[in-house]
Amino acid sequence: MTAIDTAIRAAAADIELIGVTKAYDAKTVVIPQLDVALRPGEFTVVLGPSGCGKSTLLQMIAGLERVSGGKILIGGREVQNLEPKHRGCAMVFQNYALYPHMTVAENMAYSLKVAGVSKAERAERVATVAKMLGLADFLARKPGQLSGGQRQRVAIGRAIIREPGVLLFDEPLSNLDAQLRHDMRVELADLHRRIGATSVFVTHDQVEAMTLADRILILNKGHIEQFDTPKAIYHHPASIFVAKFIGSPPMNILAVTGDGSALRLADGQVVANFAGKGSFQLGIRPEDITVKAGGPIKAQIRYREDLGSHEILEADIAGQPLRIATPFGAEIDPTSTLSLSFSQARLHLFDNGTSRAISNAFDQTKSAPASVKEYQ
Ligand SMILES: Nc1ncnc2c1ncn2[C@@H]1O[C@H](COP(=O)(O)OP(=O)(O)O)[C@@H](O)[C@H]1O
Ligand SMILES: [Mg+2]
Repeated sequence: MTAIDTAIRAAAADIELIGVTKAYDAKTVVIPQLDVALRPGEFTVVLGPSGCGKSTLLQMIAGLERVSGGKILIGGREVQNLEPKHRGCAMVFQNYALYPHMTVAENMAYSLKVAGVSKAERAERVATVAKMLGLADFLARKPGQLSGGQRQRVAIGRAIIREPGVLLFDEPLSNLDAQLRHDMRVELADLHRRIGATSVFVTHDQVEAMTLADRILILNKGHIEQFDTPKAIYHHPASIFVAKFIGSPPMNILAVTGDGSALRLADGQVVANFAGKGSFQLGIRPEDITVKAGGPIKAQIRYREDLGSHEILEADIAGQPLRIATPFGAEIDPTSTLSLSFSQARLHLFDNGTSRAISNAFDQTKSAPASVKEYQ
């Protein structure tokens, strides 16, 4: 670790939300009940569609919104009734919120000045943070003389300069173009490794969530759908909501019926061996379907989208849409019936009523490898 690495290093705090609720009024219940614990130094990404309560959640941690009920603990200390400045959190917003009349150096040092930190120490910390963020040459500029990416770096610098135990980010990359978003993502991941603050990063962008998070908290209408590592969320989605929210194109969800030995589509086609009976929703990702001669599952091709590195086939199977990702240049006759195989180890089964995943649904079937093989 270099001197710079150790100069700005937070004492990371754990965050615990216990029975937290939020209602703006009787009709607007944004968070019905939330219980979650974030580990010290962990990078949590809160992911969910617009309006699901992500900003509200972050602002309650920061103290910019009051909780309607429940407790928030930061580093074991109850903070829900404390002023924002006493919570040890710093926040980075989507719109930067820099002071336009102040220079980069003044913007970054402002909170230290308010806190009564000496001029000499302010200058030293500004220099350290500016070096970390590649802003050393821009300290005398005003925000209006900076690019979007540089402004966002100043906003990040302003947050980390106080060495907060908790860093909160509300869609900080949304205003940047695609290339810059990517670069800033890499920078943020690197910065997190060096600073080590407990970080909560809100976004509706699944790529940001997958690449930045230690754990992703998927929020749907103020409920936690799943809270787990990116890998677990991708490979073992806990609900149809999660399955469809992560992955591009999203997972296919097909209505199937179990007859005691197999899962069948509405047209009678067998898609998997399965010991249970009843109606289910079957999930399969586009990349887990293979087009191959003699494949046992048939679908009608509708449309072919060439993405250069691979193709997406839009098909129809038993009256339901099906997307298939195939390697570029596959020989497919666009007028023909597709012969497919579904990767049996990568099927997901969901309850028809609750939409929750049925774990180990295929375990019983897997004990009969000979018959499973038939559908691969
Ligand atoms: N100050 C407010 N007064 C009333 N309703 C609000 C207020 N702020 C947010 N909401 C509502 O709370 C819900 C969640 O908002 P928000 O937390 O901003 O969602 P997200 O950040 O996930 O897009 C939305 O339905 C929004 O309209
Ligand atoms: Mg928001």
